[in-house]
Amino acid sequence: MPHEVRGVVARSRGAEVSIETILVPDPGPGEALVAVRSCGVCHTDLHYREGGINDDFPFLLGHEAAGTVEAVGDGVTDVAPGDFVILNWRAVCGQCRACLRGRPWYCFATHNAAQKMTLKDGTELSPALGIGAFAEKTLVHAGQCTKVNPAASPAAAGLLGCGVMAGIGAAINTGGVTRGDSVAVIGCGGVGDAAIAGAALAGAAKIIAVDIDDRKLQWARGFGATDTVNSRESDPVEAIRALTGGHGADVVIEAIGRPETYEQAFYARDLAGTVVLVGVPTPDMKIELPLIEVFGRGGSLKSSWYGDCLPSRDFPMLVDLYLQGRLDLDGFVSETIGLDQVEEAFAKMQRGEVLRSVVML
Ligand SMILES: NC(=O)c1ccc[n+]([C@@H]2O[C@H](COP(=O)([O-])OP(=O)(O)OC[C@H]3O[C@@H](n4cnc5c(N)ncnc54)[C@H](O)[C@@H]3O)[C@@H](O)[C@H]2O)c1
Ligand SMILES: [Zn+2]
Ligand SMILES: [Zn+2]
Repeated sequence: MPHEVRGVVARSRGAEVSIETILVPDPGPGEALVAVRSCGVCHTDLHYREGGINDDFPFLLGHEAAGTVEAVGDGVTDVAPGDFVILNWRAVCGQCRACLRGRPWYCFATHNAAQKMTLKDGTELSPALGIGAFAEKTLVHAGQCTKVNPAASPAAAGLLGCGVMAGIGAAINTGGVTRGDSVAVIGCGGVGDAAIAGAALAGAAKIIAVDIDDRKLQWARGFGATDTVNSRESDPVEAIRALTGGHGADVVIEAIGRPETYEQAFYARDLAGTVVLVGVPTPDMKIELPLIEVFGRGGSLKSSWYGDCLPSRDFPMLVDLYLQGRLDLDGFVSETIGLDQVEEAFAKMQRGEVLRSVVML
C-alpha cells in the first residue's frame, strides 16, 4: 500500500510551490522508505522551481535532509528500520569508469529509487536531486541513506546532505586547502560559509569573505573569515590582492554561480592557484576569458560537484566534529519552519535574511 503524505511540489516554471498529497510506494529491492525529520531550503530548490535545472516538472522539492529509516526493501543490509540517516545524492555504483578507477566521489551512475513517487492522480514526480524530502516520507535508494550518530540534531545534521557538505568539500576536497593557505570565498550564503568553515578546519591562514551584504559578511566571520570585502563598495579583485601581499589567494571559491563572480575568482587568485566553482550557473550563462590569461596564470580551474564528497566517508566524520564542538553546524540554521513555509523561505533567501531555513517534520 502506498503511503499518502504531504509534500512540497513545484508544478510549473516560476509558479509558487504548493503542498500536495503525494503517494510514496513501499520500498522495493534496494530501496528505503524514510520518515523525514528535517530538510533545509537550498538555493538549488529555487533553481528547480525556476526551471533552471531542467524541465521535468512537477518536482517534489527538498534534498538537504535527515530522517529515520522506516522500512527497507529486499536485499538491503547497510541500513535498517530505526537508523538515523542523512540523505545523500551520491549513492555510488561501484561499477562505472570513475568508481573502477578508485574515484567514487565522481561516480557517473549514482543510484536513486527505481519506483516513482506520484501525485494522487498518478502523475509521476521528479524528486529534486533524486531525493524529494520536503515531504513527511520519501523513497530513496538505500545507498542514499548514510547512517550517522543519532545524538546530532536533525536540523543541523541534515544540512550535510547538500549545501554544507558542498561548501566544506569545495574547500577541503576540491580546492585541497591546507594549513597556511590563503583562501577567498565569493558569495557567503550557506554554501560559501561552509567553504569558510572548511577552510578554517583545514588550517587556512587567511580566509577572505566576499559578499554584497554586510549582514552576510558578519555571519561569515562567525564561521572563520579573517577578513571581509563588500564587493558593492570595493573591487573584490583589488581587495583580495591587497590582503594577500598583492598576489591573490591560493584558492578562490565561487559560491554563487554567475559569470561576473567567476571572473572575479579567476583574477583574484595567485599564480598557480586554484579556482573552485561550487555555485551552480543556469544554462544560458557564458563566460569569455583571454586564453593567454588561462595559460599564463597556470594552476587549475575546477568545479566541485557536491564538494567531491564521499558520503560514507565524510558525513559520519563531520557529524563527529560537530558533536565535539569543532564544526558549528547549528550556526547555519537561521530558523526552523513548517512544510507550508517553503515559498516564504525562498523569499527570505533572496532577500538575504537567512543562511538556512530548515523544515522540521
Ligand atoms: N556544487 C554543488 O554541489 C552545490 C550544492 C548546493 C548548492 N550549490 C549552489 O551554490 C550556490 C549558493 O547556494 P546557497 O544556498 O549558499 O545560496 P544563497 O542564496 O544562500 O547564497 C548566495 C550568496 O551570494 C551573495 N551574492 C549574490 N550575488 C553576489 C555578487 N554579485 N557578489 C557577491 N556576493 C553575491 C548573496 O548575498 C548570498 O549571500 C547556488 O548556486 C547553489 O545552487 C551547489
Ligand atoms: Zn560509479
Ligand atoms: Zn542543495
